Amino acid sequence: MALINPSILSADFARLAEEAKAVEGADWLHVDVMDNHFVPNLTLGVPVVESLSKATDTPLDLHLMIEDPDRWAPQYIEAGAGSVTFHVEAAAAPVRLAREIRAKGARASMALKPATPIEPYEDLLPELDMLLIMTVEPGFGGQAFLDIMLPKIRRTRELISRHGLELALQVDGGVSAETIERCAEAGADVFVAGSAVYGADDPAKAVRDLREKAET
Ligand code: DX5
Ligand code: ZN
Repeated sequence: MALINPSILSADFARLAEEAKAVEGADWLHVDVMDNHFVPNLTLGVPVVESLSKATDTPLDLHLMIEDPDRWAPQYIEAGAGSVTFHVEAAAAPVRLAREIRAKGARASMALKPATPIEPYEDLLPELDMLLIMTVEPGFGGQAFLDIMLPKIRRTRELISRHGLELALQVDGGVSAETIERCAEAGADVFVAGSAVYGADDPAKAVRDLREKAET
């Protein structure tokens, strides 16, 4: 089954509650937290996540593009996140962090930037509920999908199967009606889409259309 997670990054930040409601029916709402250090952009923090989680029934899928996720992840769970993704490039102790996220009742997920290989982290997979493979350099919505990431998606899906794990495999960046089938075919099953959903006239329909494409 394909999960579609619209990214609120492409929404109107002055109307976050309405924009969240516009995609009810989506599986998760993807929330990009950027600190202007790990990535060259700044978005939102704990208080906004807390308000957003009260404004929608869709569970929140937090993507932390920040330094020191070890320190911040617990606060985002307390603010209402159902899933927390940290970047392995930024985490001081990824195993301890993943265990802490799970112990606090959220799904633990680890992200890899385009130039970060999966192989050194193979032994960490049992600690995770999801792995995120970035298909653009993190920091901005609306960038072009990096086709060169398809072999990594394929290799990662093979590794997950080889370990007999149930891990979800998320892709984020440039996912659209044009690229989602390639991602699904390579083994991804959770799809983040920002501009492809919020740039559409009917965001809820865009979610349904993406899901249909991913499942064919
Ligand atoms: C980029 C963010 C993405 C972004 C995707 O760093 O992590 O979640 O919102 O936007 P699109 O789908 O427009 O590439
Ligand atoms: Zn993201």
